[in-house]
Amino acid sequence: MTSAEIRQSFLDFFQKHGHTIVKSSPLLPESPGLLFTNAGMNQFVPIFLGERSPDVSRWGDRVLAPAKDTRASDTQKCIRAGGKHNDLEDVGFDTYHHTMFEMLGNWSFGDYFKRESLEWGWELITKVWGIPAKRLFATVYSPNKDKGDPSDFDQEAYDIWAGIFTRAGLDPKVHIVYGNKKDNFWMMGDTGPCGPCSEIHFNLLPSDDEAAGRKLVNAGSPRCIEIWNHVFIQFNANADGSFSPLAAKHVDTGMGFERVAGIYATTGGFKNFSADPSNYNADVFAPLFRQVAQLSGKTYQGTVPTKREGLSEQENIDVAFRVLADHARCVSCAIADGILPGNEGRNYVIRRILRRGILYGKKLGLRTGFFEQLVAPVVESLGRVFPELQQQQDIVRRVIRSEEDSFGHTLDRGLAIFNKAAATGAITGAAAFELYDTYGFPLDMTQLLATERGLTVDTEGFEAAMEKQRERARAAQKKEVIVAATEGDASASYEATVFTGYLIDTDNAVEAVVTDVVPSGDDTFLVFDRTPFYAEMGGQAGDTGTAVVAGQTIAIVDCVKDKAGRHLHKVDAAAKAQLAGATLRGAKARLSIDLARRRAISRHHSAAHLIHWALRKTLGTHVRQAGTSKTPERMRFDFSHFEALTPDQLHQIERMVNEKVIDNAKVQCYETEFDKKPADTLAFFGDKYGRIVRVVDMGGYSRELCGGTHVSTTGEIGLIKIVAEMAIAAGTRRIEAVAGTAAYDFIAQREAALAAVNARLNAGPQDVMQKLESVLAHTKELEKQLKAFQQKAAAGLADDLAGKAVEKDGLKFVSAVVSVENPEALRSLGAQVLGKLGEGVVKLGADFGEKASVAAFCSPAAIKSGHQAGKIIQELCVKLGGKGGGKPDFAMGGGKDVAKLAEVLK
Ligand code: SER
Repeated sequence: MTSAEIRQSFLDFFQKHGHTIVKSSPLLPESPGLLFTNAGMNQFVPIFLGERSPDVSRWGDRVLAPAKDTRASDTQKCIRAGGKHNDLEDVGFDTYHHTMFEMLGNWSFGDYFKRESLEWGWELITKVWGIPAKRLFATVYSPNKDKGDPSDFDQEAYDIWAGIFTRAGLDPKVHIVYGNKKDNFWMMGDTGPCGPCSEIHFNLLPSDDEAAGRKLVNAGSPRCIEIWNHVFIQFNANADGSFSPLAAKHVDTGMGFERVAGIYATTGGFKNFSADPSNYNADVFAPLFRQVAQLSGKTYQGTVPTKREGLSEQENIDVAFRVLADHARCVSCAIADGILPGNEGRNYVIRRILRRGILYGKKLGLRTGFFEQLVAPVVESLGRVFPELQQQQDIVRRVIRSEEDSFGHTLDRGLAIFNKAAATGAITGAAAFELYDTYGFPLDMTQLLATERGLTVDTEGFEAAMEKQRERARAAQKKEVIVAATEGDASASYEATVFTGYLIDTDNAVEAVVTDVVPSGDDTFLVFDRTPFYAEMGGQAGDTGTAVVAGQTIAIVDCVKDKAGRHLHKVDAAAKAQLAGATLRGAKARLSIDLARRRAISRHHSAAHLIHWALRKTLGTHVRQAGTSKTPERMRFDFSHFEALTPDQLHQIERMVNEKVIDNAKVQCYETEFDKKPADTLAFFGDKYGRIVRVVDMGGYSRELCGGTHVSTTGEIGLIKIVAEMAIAAGTRRIEAVAGTAAYDFIAQREAALAAVNARLNAGPQDVMQKLESVLAHTKELEKQLKAFQQKAAAGLADDLAGKAVEKDGLKFVSAVVSVENPEALRSLGAQVLGKLGEGVVKLGADFGEKASVAAFCSPAAIKSGHQAGKIIQELCVKLGGKGGGKPDFAMGGGKDVAKLAEVLK
């Protein structure tokens, strides 16, 4: 079988057993708290937790072959780097860990349980695939095994396995191994669905000696590895460390696809176990190895080092081949799924992996710029299974290229700095930090380089330097902190303010009750039980307006939210003085917001959604919001993208959004459960969403989770005008735009400027360009004429000066202060004068405002008689309070005592 056939036979087997075949979910996880999708079960979490009914066959275009709703199977892209499950450091040094791998899996949602899961598993691998039973071992959960008490174990799993092995004529006592919590209780992360598991391990020793194989189970040997994990999901791990039982029992299995494919390839179909096993023997890696060999001219020989330092030349080459093959898959798949290399979180992990790859390429003699050449072989081997790779191939290449460009600039200098530090025998925290901060070396890359030399890095020192930098950054962007000090009981627990301001019409006045007065720093805030004031959130500015309390009108100048969800209404300075000492709690209030201002903010917020939609349509789905602000005056939208937008792209985006404005589609805002939101709703991962979320749907094409305020039809936006596009960080760009009246004002201003130009040129819109061209042509002509006159004048001046020469001992002498444009003109004038004199000495000076310049020229005969231009200038400069000198025939200099110039030259 090829790797593709192995994958397909797994899916076919489970389809036959009633499983719906679904697509891999993206590497960008939907579950909060995960860095990357790290297991096949991630996309089913809401079903396990009972938040969503099992409905996989109705998952729309995510279904590849429908069957039961309670059973699913797929191949899932997973990344295990940087998070709870982290294999990065082992990649390349062994043959069976990867950053990105495919996990084949089957799931039961409250349907079948341990027996079917294990029996089917056994049938697939021994009957369908023909793995020799004698080489297989099963682990079962035994929580107290480490404490020497194997009496408590997963009896049900044990009994099923005992039956299976006995039927196969094997001794269960030899083939079943107890596993502790670390090995046999599976958790996705610190929270989420979890449960005891049973793993299948494969003895890859040359001999099928059962006792020898058993010894290697869970012993970290490449000669006996886990190939399939069957998890019996029964609990939810809570944030406080406790476990709650789930309403139903589920099955979640995961098979290491590259492991099985690698073993199959190495052993000629599970038959000949003499060769060293390696995942990299699987044909999914072949196009990558071919490409690396071709680019580097080196040959892969499959050696595996036994230690991390002092590697042989071939070991270094083989590690580098494996690293590149692995990292190219990981980085390409991540980018195709919208995780671009960046400075933080998961984006930084991808940057680290890419930079690690570039470093290993260097070890193979590859020049930076090679990494993008590895994208094509990734697409060749995985593009059919993961079509997004094919669709996004061009973007993936360009992202990698721009990332390589920027790192390529600093890599060599960074390596020189590293070598210098290494020569001292230790890598200090300061050196590691400099490498990180100035040369872009991730800490683990510096550690890797250090390990190769048998050195260690002072990571504590590094962390301390990092912390200092963070403090500096924090201090630089310190925001106003709201401390909730209350009128009365400081320990009161607060109720969130009821927000009534989504639907406002002409009369937005709301009757409310003052629940608190909160002084904080220099400001005072009022809190009410309910309010139409939007509190600053998601980049949308807070509302302003008035509060009429006890007959007094108080100006509200801003509104923010505190942790308890209370809207804090900031009062202006005058009201602050009025409020001092007053007890307002319980007083009635009438609240109204500045409606025109709010409308302007909402227009900018809706415009931001349209621009986000158009950016993704035009540039690709890697575009993600990275920060945003919406005020009455304008909107700013920061997004991930790797290069400047062209004028054409900007024009296209502006046109697309304005067409949507003219379309006047309905904007619908509604609340729903997070898991029931429409499939294509944009949510900003990493944000923690509650169970209930708010969807903003504009015309059915733009759907985002958003708590902000919006127009009710797109036509209300009026007009959108992009006013700026710029870079704000590597891989992050910013668009600024204006909408509604702000857009009208912007255009009116531009038009006024243009009208002023027209008036000045005495032209109308039709002929302004023509007029301007003719003015420019005329100016050019005048400049040409002026230059000719200047040259003529200079020649005349040279004649004049030469005419005034004084003769002595057969030499002619000229000394004068002249008026010229610049020192260069002084020099050329002096040369012309000397030319006219024949033999002699010329001294010229000119006043350039702040500075006086002098130049001297001596002809050959003058030099013979002892005159030296250099000496003359030296002398003159000293007198002018400056410095200068030069050769005997020509010298220049200057000084700041401009007033002395004429006197000195005399
Ligand atoms: N979730 C389990 C694992 O990742 C089985 O799929 O090992």
